[in-house]
Amino acid sequence: MRNIKLFDTNSHKFILLNESEPGEEDGIRSNQYLVMHDDAGVLLDPGGFGVMPRVLSEMLHYLAPSQIKGIFLSHQDPDIVGGLSTWLEVSSCPVYVSRIWMRFLPHYGLKDMSRFIGVPDQGMDWTPAPGLDLRILPAHFLHSEGQINVYDPVSRIIFTGDIGAAMMPMDKDDAFVDDFASHLPFIEGFHRRYMCSNKAIRCWLDTIAGLDIDMIAPQHGPVYRGAAVRDFLDWLRDLQCGIDLMQSGGRFPQQFL
Ligand SMILES: [Fe+2]
Ligand SMILES: [Fe+2]
Repeated sequence: MRNIKLFDTNSHKFILLNESEPGEEDGIRSNQYLVMHDDAGVLLDPGGFGVMPRVLSEMLHYLAPSQIKGIFLSHQDPDIVGGLSTWLEVSSCPVYVSRIWMRFLPHYGLKDMSRFIGVPDQGMDWTPAPGLDLRILPAHFLHSEGQINVYDPVSRIIFTGDIGAAMMPMDKDDAFVDDFASHLPFIEGFHRRYMCSNKAIRCWLDTIAGLDIDMIAPQHGPVYRGAAVRDFLDWLRDLQCGIDLMQSGGRFPQQFL
């Protein structure tokens, strides 16, 4: 269990709330984030059904559910959306997700879609409360067809969903990536098999090119900081993945993962 302040001034915080224990989400540990300014905050990828109670209890160290002004879903996967019906009960805020996933979310048993806001393909500015001047950025096909990121210009942290996600061995529990070369074995197979194409990567790199980025915060595995930020982006630029590698018969040149 984690509760790490990635950025912390008196008024503004970017917090990694929890990393689920192995076994809870099919053994893939996931990250949930809280961005807050003064007495208001937003939750980024609040997680699957199994982690919801502990994410809530960690969040209560900082905010009451009524102070949550928005919930953000980077994409439609169950390790992100699975706990949402409970979050909708304890909060009253809007939920942001790519517009293309709006029609699928009711299949999670979400009956009332009136609190959902479909984010347009090009992204949008997101100011859920004073001091939270966030930007929602497109990251489509990485890996989801409707993937969106959140950039916080105060902390200079970008939340990237599954981009940068690591499949860490159960006995490795580092909070940060400082040395990218030693981290590469934990991300390479996932990115080659799950990320859709190098073209999608290049589009995303263009999208984020003008941003000052101090940390890359993914939905799984440690947070990139320092030189590892640039090293990761440089590696990604030339990565062949997904349909770049796929061969007839659904084969890939090697078994990734
Ligand atoms: Fe995913
Ligand atoms: Fe994920």
